[in-house]
Amino acid sequence: MDAVWQRLRETGRLDGHEVRFFEQTASTNDVAMELGRAGAATGTLVVAETQTTGRGRLGRAWLSPPGMGIYLSMVLRPRLAVTELARVTLAGGLAACQAVERLTGLAPAIKWPNDLLLDGRKVGGILTETGAIRPGEPVLVVLGVGINVLTPPAAFPEELRGRATSLAGHGGRQYRRGDLLVALVEEVERQVARLERGEFAGLLDEWRQRDATLGRRLAWLTPAGTVVEGVALGPDDQGLLHIRDDGGRIHEVMSGDLDLLQR
Ligand code: BTN
Repeated sequence: MDAVWQRLRETGRLDGHEVRFFEQTASTNDVAMELGRAGAATGTLVVAETQTTGRGRLGRAWLSPPGMGIYLSMVLRPRLAVTELARVTLAGGLAACQAVERLTGLAPAIKWPNDLLLDGRKVGGILTETGAIRPGEPVLVVLGVGINVLTPPAAFPEELRGRATSLAGHGGRQYRRGDLLVALVEEVERQVARLERGEFAGLLDEWRQRDATLGRRLAWLTPAGTVVEGVALGPDDQGLLHIRDDGGRIHEVMSGDLDLLQR
C-alpha cells in the first residue's frame, strides 16, 4: 500500500508544500509554469497520475502511463545569477539520483545533462524551463522530473524497449512512488540550497562521480544539425559539457543530442 501517494492524491498536501495533484494533465511543467507566472510560491509542486503530452528535452515526448511513474514539476525561484541557471538542471539530476538511491539502493548514472541511466537504459529525466528574466527579481524556474517507477517493459513502445527501463523492472521490486516523491522533493531542495550558498563545486564533484559519459566516445548532434564525434571531457564550472573532437578541438556543449558510441 502506497500510503503517502494515496494521502497526496486525496488531500493534495505534502508537509510544507502546496501541491496541485491531477489525475490527468497535459504536462505538469506547463501547469507549474502557469502557476509560477501567476505568483505561486517557490516549492509549489505539481504532480500527475498521467500526462497526455508529457515532454522531454528537444521536443521529445515523455511516456507517462497512469499510475506507473513520478511526473512532478516544482516551481523554484532560486537566488542565482542568470548565468548560473544551467546549474539547476545538474542539481536536479543529482537530486533525482540521490532520491532513487536512498529509496531503492539502485545507483543511477547521469548522461549529461539530465538522463538518469541504470545499466545504460534510461529510467528518468529532468526538464528545466525558465520564465521571463526581470532585472532584480529571481528567475522563475520549473524543474520537471519524470521517473519510470513501475512501468512494465511492455508499456514502452518497441523502439524504446532496449533503451528504457523502470526502477521495478531493474530492481525486481515494486517501489512506493509516494516515498520516492518525498525523497525527491527533499533532495531537490537540499541541492538548490547548496547552489544558493555558492557550493556548486562540491555538487559538481558528486555529479561527476555519476557521470555516464566521461571519457566515452560520443556523437553530438549540434543544434545547427551537424554531427561532431569525439570524447566527453565532462561538464565545466558552468555545467557546459566539453567534448574533444578527433581533430583535438574542444567544443563547449550547451544543448543538442548526445549519442554514446560503442566502447
Ligand atoms: C528528458 O528526458 O528529456 C526530460 C523528461 C522530463 C519528463 C518530466 S515528467 C514531469 C514533467 N512534465 C513534463 O512534461 N516533462 C517533465
